[in-house]
Amino acid sequence: MSSKAAASAVLDRMIVLVGLMGAGKTTIGRRLAAQLEVPFVDADDEVERAAGCSIKDMFEVHGEAAFREGEKRVIARLLDGPAGVLATGGGAFMNEETRERIREKGISIWLRADLDVLVRRCARRDDRPLLKDGDTRETLENLMGQRYPLYGEANIIVDTGDKPHRTVVDKILDELSAGGYLSANQSDTND
Ligand code: S3P
Repeated sequence: MSSKAAASAVLDRMIVLVGLMGAGKTTIGRRLAAQLEVPFVDADDEVERAAGCSIKDMFEVHGEAAFREGEKRVIARLLDGPAGVLATGGGAFMNEETRERIREKGISIWLRADLDVLVRRCARRDDRPLLKDGDTRETLENLMGQRYPLYGEANIIVDTGDKPHRTVVDKILDELSAGGYLSANQSDTND
């Protein structure tokens, strides 16, 4: 099935985007969902909605552990909801229970990016608690060391590099298709 055909594919599992801060999970996820004509949901937004405050405030007032607990609960709930595209926060896939749930109910896609790209993209926002103190490059490099082995458990790995989002979305669609994760609608059979 070509990327074009995949645009109207049937999805029966949640597509879950994982990867470090700055990898483009939200932007690419939104485009991917639009292309597949399925709902898009951002886990960080949902955590904020559930808590009634920003992630920044959550870290400051309640601490990271409370945020992680909320993040785990919210993702579990979303995975039980309608299939679509779910962008997770960079640390979500580090939780063993969350990884297990995603394995059971979703298709995980790691958006892998180089350190230089991540550093540049993360510089555009200043609301990420983990990057509040210290040197962003050093923090991201440390997180890469801790997290890349676990992101590597994802069903699909896509190198985003500095490619345009459109190219990355096409690559994801091709991978989903090649992996048999999408079933074409009747109307695609003549493509
Ligand atoms: C985090 C990443 C953030 C957010 C929180 C913690 C992390 O999401 O969940 O600040 O641990 O890497 P993004 O990856 O969407 O920036």
